[in-house]
Amino acid sequence: MDDYYIKDRELAAYFEAQWFDKLSWHDKSALSDFAAAPVAENFIQLPFFQQSAELITSSLRAHAVAAENLLEIGPSLGRTCYELITANNSLKKITVIEPSQILLKHFKNIITSGGQHEFPAITNFRQLGQVTFDANPVTRACSNIDFSFIESPIDAPLSLEAFDVTVCLNVLDQCGSPLAIVETLQRNTRCGGLVALSCTYQWDKKHVKDFMQTRSDISDYFSPRWEKVADANFEYRFRTNERYASTFLSHLVIFKKHDA
Ligand SMILES: C[S@@+](CC[C@H](N)C(=O)[O-])C[C@H]1O[C@@H](n2cnc3c(N)ncnc32)[C@H](O)[C@@H]1O
Repeated sequence: MDDYYIKDRELAAYFEAQWFDKLSWHDKSALSDFAAAPVAENFIQLPFFQQSAELITSSLRAHAVAAENLLEIGPSLGRTCYELITANNSLKKITVIEPSQILLKHFKNIITSGGQHEFPAITNFRQLGQVTFDANPVTRACSNIDFSFIESPIDAPLSLEAFDVTVCLNVLDQCGSPLAIVETLQRNTRCGGLVALSCTYQWDKKHVKDFMQTRSDISDYFSPRWEKVADANFEYRFRTNERYASTFLSHLVIFKKHDA
């Protein structure tokens, strides 16, 4: 059965972007054995998730939000969750909304199940190889968190509970209804809590059903009830063959909710 979002081949690019730096030395060197010539690690590694989590964490501290519960929409393989968990020991509960069965299965393997997991890996222009990922250190770091999972797309605003922080990175231009996602984040954030939202502005009719819902600045989704507390641009990259990658600039904004 086709996945909601991803083909198995693209999993290699997602896995690499999020978890390459956590592969063992042995697995990394096995990948370069197949390449025509060595490829520098800084072309493969992507600091986006650490950079975003650092900005979210510093904003939580600056606004004295000791976040206990968090909602993430479209986390793919969980690197942002992992970074936020390791940086914020107040976190106890995380709700994840991820419609892709493949991505959610691997999110659970890496973040909650542990063990050794096989992932496809980019080796050269035409070939995919395979790497084994030891998820145990990641799972141990996340073991105090109570996770809830919703495996369906957000097509209409959803009411869940009042979260201290809600996060959605690089999903808006890849979904059917950006407004449904923004409204879900905003309505499920408690007063005094933060929304972290990023976008690469690659609005495409393939995904977005109503272009009236797109914005040239995602800050425009927020009414005066919301105070902007951070605004940054970080590189976001996927390598699709050994010497070819697509690089985007992801715009991350963080807003604090005030009383109506
Ligand atoms: C480009 S990926 C971004 C993944 C990750 N947040 C990151 O920054 O790398 C888009 C993600 O949004 C999810 N997604 C797409 N449409 C969605 C929808 N309508 N509701 C919730 N998630 C959706 C996909 O399954 C995928 O995990």
